[in-house]
Amino acid sequence: MAAYKTIEWLDAGKAVRLLDQSLLPRQVAYATCSDVAGVAEAIRNMTVRGAPAIGVTAAYGLVVAAYRESSDEIADIHRAVQEAIEVLKASRPTAVNLFWALDEMVAGVNRISVDSGEEYRNALLSCAHQMAKDDININRALGQAAMELMPAEKVTFIHHCNTGSLATVDFGTALGVIRTAHEAGLKVHVFVDETRPRLQGARLTCWELENQGISHQLIVDGASSQVMKTFAVDMCVVGVDRVAANGDVANKIGTCNLAIVARAHGVPFYACAPLSSVDLATRSGTGITIEERDPAEVKIINGGWVAPRDVEVYNPAFDITPAEFITAIVTENGVAYPPFAENLRRLKEQ
Ligand code: MRU
Repeated sequence: MAAYKTIEWLDAGKAVRLLDQSLLPRQVAYATCSDVAGVAEAIRNMTVRGAPAIGVTAAYGLVVAAYRESSDEIADIHRAVQEAIEVLKASRPTAVNLFWALDEMVAGVNRISVDSGEEYRNALLSCAHQMAKDDININRALGQAAMELMPAEKVTFIHHCNTGSLATVDFGTALGVIRTAHEAGLKVHVFVDETRPRLQGARLTCWELENQGISHQLIVDGASSQVMKTFAVDMCVVGVDRVAANGDVANKIGTCNLAIVARAHGVPFYACAPLSSVDLATRSGTGITIEERDPAEVKIINGGWVAPRDVEVYNPAFDITPAEFITAIVTENGVAYPPFAENLRRLKEQ
């Protein structure tokens, strides 16, 4: 377990406490969200980020909504929860885990028979706790599944964005794979893409790897080709925000560039996806909404302008890596190879 908690339910305050990722690594501070607007804003402004972490935070957001409702009538709490679902759904569009988690919460509560407002609230809370617990077990299983891809003694990775304990409830997906290899005794080295513009790699992944004592070097995003040319890179590992039914992957901007470079150098490229990120209802990457974020993220670094103030900016937060550039997709139920349409469905239905 990480020494810090990315997401925590505060029973005394009926609130969700988030490790504020916008301040790391300079400051370890927490934000407490005690209403739905606060939870949605924390997702939007990336106090909490990473697809699985966003999903679980939204799940606790529904619990917050249920407790904020002053009436104890089931119908009133239900209405407050429905309103919260709409608010939370509008926070960020790309990670399917957000929508998946809200659907799971509704389905979970529907499976429990409740006779009072208190029971309704308890049911929501236990569904959110279960989702948080499952997330950790799923990440560990995903890490184990990836072991079949590892060389015998030492392994060198390139990793993009942050996919670790901070991006999940704990352990992580692609970073969980790296951690599993390290824990299994392999000699691990990681080249960490800094991940412009929000620097999740530089700020968050390096912080996690340092805490775990895993050897790593920070590189600028554009260095990956040179790194692959100079060093024996065994594989690139990335997380996902959504996998379409055909295996196209939406992930942090720059993922597709890395996949194309990996293909040019003959380096395997693995996307690490809990099955909650696999969206069989979306046929291909063209059906995935790509979030566009504030131009200031690109123009301003640490409060200082790094481009002319009025320059026009295009700032997509994610890109789509076509399935053809992906060697395999690692899930908690095993590794899916092409043809992804068939193999992802099989793993999802297991
Ligand atoms: O904008 P972010 O930081 O939420 O983007 C995060 C990513 O793209 C991650 O790679 C993805 O969510 C998987 S996290 C296990």
